[in-house]
Order: sequence, then structure tokens, then C-alpha cells
Amino acid sequence: MKILVIGSGGREHAIIRKLKESPKAEKIYAAPGNGGISKDAECVDINVMDKEKMVAFAKENNIDLVFVAPDDPLAAGMVDALEGAGIRAFGPRANAAVIESSKVFSKNLMKKYNIPTAGYAVFDDPKEVMAYIEKQNKYPIVIKADGLALGKGVIIAQNHSEAQAAVKEIMEDKKFGDSGNNVVVEEFLTGPEVSVLAFTDGISLKPMVSSKDHKRAYDNDEGLNTGGMGTISPNPYYTDEMAEICRKTIFEPTVAAMNSENRKFKGCLYFGLMITSDGPKVIEYNARFGDPEAQVVLPRLKTDLVDIIEAVIDERLSQLDIEWSKETTACVVMASGGYPLSYKKGIEMYGLDENGQVEGVTVYHAGTKFENGKFYTNGGRVLGVTAAAETLDKALDKAYDAVKKISFEGAHYRTDIGKTK
Ligand code: AMP
Ligand code: GLY
Repeated sequence: MKILVIGSGGREHAIIRKLKESPKAEKIYAAPGNGGISKDAECVDINVMDKEKMVAFAKENNIDLVFVAPDDPLAAGMVDALEGAGIRAFGPRANAAVIESSKVFSKNLMKKYNIPTAGYAVFDDPKEVMAYIEKQNKYPIVIKADGLALGKGVIIAQNHSEAQAAVKEIMEDKKFGDSGNNVVVEEFLTGPEVSVLAFTDGISLKPMVSSKDHKRAYDNDEGLNTGGMGTISPNPYYTDEMAEICRKTIFEPTVAAMNSENRKFKGCLYFGLMITSDGPKVIEYNARFGDPEAQVVLPRLKTDLVDIIEAVIDERLSQLDIEWSKETTACVVMASGGYPLSYKKGIEMYGLDENGQVEGVTVYHAGTKFENGKFYTNGGRVLGVTAAAETLDKALDKAYDAVKKISFEGAHYRTDIGKTK
């Protein structure tokens, strides 16, 4: 098969590495890919949002399967466009991807179908939001832009003035563009966070092994929210008992709810959960693999990913057994200095071999380019250095040993991945 993977980050690199293991994968393309990905796939320079060019490329090159990995093209109907042209594609259609692209939609869905989540209210007028927050008078309080904002549209306000600043930023200054036309104000929950990704064909759902993301920029969970600074799998807080509760109260009801709304979800459904004293609650849904969750979950997948993708597309997932390795994986993200705010690009990187790798680990490239035989930084998150071992401590040691061998000016990484709640 000829397979095209849409996207350019560490998640896409992890997907491509897993697809490469399949005897069915004869040729893999990435659009647009990145420097590290170019060592594993043929990169084609097509913007992830360009449906017309993507369809044309897939047709001209007889692509058998397209994996749409990022949120924006899913929300914009990339899968619909490919399917419309008779091309097989993995990922939800736009009417189902809305579970991620509109927090107002997902909160209302959970309320309607009794799926546990934080209490909330929705607003389109900044004055009304502040009146509501003042009436609640309970801090911290959580303020979220409705739409996609690269994981950064969530503000946890500790007091009235922070809430006011957040509302201004999102709704008046439009820091996240139209994503901030509506906001969701949520009650602040506490407890360990768990990411569970699941394959679903809209009929049955198969959860993958659990993982834990570290979203804040700095150690001890300080600093701004980022796309994710590191992950481990499995998540130590996710017991078998918790998995069973989640299956019954969250996972299966979500698949059923989407069907009831005539928005059948096919692809990878991501549950961002918080284990509260009141039981597990949904913090967010994503319509895709998490990044950097994919980097720790996919290496543990033993079943052929192409077989799973085909079973999802053909709606026969229930017939497939999916196997996972028992090892623990850890991914440490190396980011550009300044991320998630502004940062420089084009900085030369040292310590990687000619394939962009370091012995003993897998280096997933998130934001790099390869030019004249050298790797350069090309994004906020640059690398996801990932190791597997029998225990978490060993996996972390391996990952951090490799991180220390890699350098570029301004490089920043957290030193406590796998250590915090
Ligand atoms: P989200 O983009 O919705 O996943 O939110 C980003 C991060 O903000 C989450 O991973 C949580 O750490 C935090 N967060 C979001 N909603 C809440 C909430 N209701 N209570 C506490 N923390 C939250
Ligand atoms: N790492 C969180 C996400 O992919 O949304």
C-alpha cells in the first residue's frame, strides 16, 4: 500500500515509524513532514489545510490510505474531501471532529448524555462572563476559548483580575482569533490527569494503553500550558478498576452520544480525563492522537497499525484483537527557548546521527529541518526523545541520558517528566 500521513510533528513521526513496521506499507509519504520525518518517509510540500492539493496528490500517486493526524484539517473536513474523491482516509469527518473543535459542543454533548465533566456555563458576551464569574466568586476558575487554540486557549484564573485579563485576551483582543467568540467557564477540578486514546469505528471502541501528559512549560507544573512537554505510558494513576469505570461511564456513552447526534465518530478518540474524588471526569476530547501521547503509546502497539486502520474504516473493529507490550515508555520533549511564547528557528542542532537519532532511544522529530547534511530547529517543540524499558525509572534514565547528548542554543526541557501528578 501507498500511505500518506498528513501533519508535521512528533506525533506524525511516531505514526510513520509504526506504519513502517507493517509489511503492507510499501511506500509512505508525509505532507509536509519535517527534517527527521524525511529519513523515514518521502516528504511532500503540501499545506495540511489544502484539501484540493491533498486530494490531487493522493489521486496522482495512487495513494491507498491517508492518515489525517492533526486537529485543524480534521475540523476543516479533510477526511470528507478525501472520501468524496474515493480515497480511503483515517480520521473523523468534520461533523464528528467538532467534538474537539468546539468546547461548547462537547460540553453540551456531555451534559445532554450525562457524561461526567466539570460544571460549566457558555457565553458570547464579555460583560456577561464577568458578571457570572463575580457571582460564582470561587477561585481558581477555568476559562476556555471555544475553538482550537493549539492547547493554549485554557486559562486557570486564580483571582478576579486574572479572570478579567483572560476574558479580555480571549474575547476582546482575540488572541486565539474566532476561537474566542464564545467562551466556556468551568468549575476547577483537581486530581491526577490521564490521557486515554481509543480506536473507534463508531460501533465499538478499543481503548489503547493509558498515558500521562505534562502540559505546563516548566518543572513542578509551573509556567504556561503548552501542547505537551513530555509523556509516560502507562499512567500510574489509571488502574484496571478505573479503566472499567471509564469504559462504562465515559467511553461507550460518548460513542453512543455521537451516533445519537448523527455524528458517527471514526478514528482515534482522545479522552483527557481527571480522576477526581468524585470519580473520573472528562476535561477535554480530542478527535485525533495526542502529541506527545502518540510518541509513548504507539511504540507499545504490537498489532499491525495498518490492519487496525482498515478495520476502523470498514467498521469491523470488534473482530480485531489489539495487543500491547508490557513495557513502560517515556518521552521528553526538547523545546525551543521561549516556547510556548515566541522563539527562534533555524538553530543548528548537535548530537544527532545522520538519521536524526541517538543510540538506545527513538528521537521523534517535532520541529526540525534537514539542510546540507545538518539538522536545524524549526518549531516550538523540536524533538521528543523516547525510551522504552521494564520500569518507568529505567525508561526515564534512558530518555534523559539521550537528551543530555543533544544540544542546540536555547534548548529547554523539563527535568521532572514522569515525576509529577
Ligand atoms: P484542555 O485544553 O481543555 O485539556 O485544558 C488544558 C489543561 O488545563 C488540562 O490538561 C488541565 O490541566 C487544565 N484544565 C482544564 N480544565 C480544567 C478544569 N475544569 N479544572 C482543572 N484544570 C483544568
Ligand atoms: N498533548 C495534548 C494534546 O495532544 O492535545
